Amino acid sequence: MATTENNQPVRQEPPVPGEGLDPSRMPGHWLLARLGKRVLRPGGVELTRWMLDALGVGPQDRVVELAAGLGATARLTLAYSPAAYTAVDRDAIAVAALGTLPHAEATVVRAVRADAADTGLPGGSAGVVYGEAMLTMQPEPAKHRIVREARRLLSDGFGRYAIHELCLLPDGLDPAHAERIAADLSGAIHVGARPLSPTGWSDLLAAEGFTVVGRKTAPMALLEPRRLIADEGLAGALGIVGRVVRDREARQRVLAMRRVFRRHHAHLGAISLLAIPTRAHTGPHSAES
Ligand SMILES: C[S@@+](CC[C@H](N)C(=O)[O-])C[C@H]1O[C@@H](n2cnc3c(N)ncnc32)[C@H](O)[C@@H]1O
Repeated sequence: MATTENNQPVRQEPPVPGEGLDPSRMPGHWLLARLGKRVLRPGGVELTRWMLDALGVGPQDRVVELAAGLGATARLTLAYSPAAYTAVDRDAIAVAALGTLPHAEATVVRAVRADAADTGLPGGSAGVVYGEAMLTMQPEPAKHRIVREARRLLSDGFGRYAIHELCLLPDGLDPAHAERIAADLSGAIHVGARPLSPTGWSDLLAAEGFTVVGRKTAPMALLEPRRLIADEGLAGALGIVGRVVRDREARQRVLAMRRVFRRHHAHLGAISLLAIPTRAHTGPHSAES
């Protein structure tokens, strides 16, 4: 362990993805992570809990989480003691931490550094696949590739897939308006943000061999005080606020993100969908193929 000059142990925080990047340019989710935020998805822990309840993870399930990030949902999933839990993320620092999460002895835990569109995991090896706040940031073709990969990973017959993403409201929003929102979001979070409407998300899943069987929406309130406390706890929220107050560059970024979220409040929401493989799907991943 590292020590100070007078041999006192130094408490070292585990590294957070994006460390060393310029705060004025780094992806918004890693900036928030650096400030202590652990819940990085639009509907917060409440929508995540709905999603996990809907997935009904049990001790017999082999679970794959796509883009597991800092592991906040992984911890909730591991509390169900599934037979296996595999975290996939493309960030090396996130993956290193995901591999060390506490878990029941009966659960086999793995963390894999890979693109969610090409995990390298065996086809049909999972009963449950989910991903949060990760499809929104992909261009259209990558969205399809990732959902297709989720379908490939799932065993036919009893597989479940869930997503938790940002959505544009309502269905049928004027495309030019949708473009403006996406551009404002991308400018604020410094990651391409391409949310879909509720029907757009359902259509994406349907196109890749899924039938949507459950859906819940929630307000997009990631940076609002009430949600911050609900997601991070009072002490966590106060810690984040303290770091924001002390760090001028980070503060400017966070306030800019919140301004954009507030400006488009009426047309932004969070959505979670539960889906199962479509029995008669005739695409490349049909049960028949
Ligand atoms: C906004 S964070 C969300 C993290 C976590 N799912 C959550 O909700 O707290 C986005 C995460 O997606 C990961 N990611 C984005 N695109 C990915 C891809 N194509 N393959 C694997 N991971 C990806 C990032 O590394 C990051 O961990």
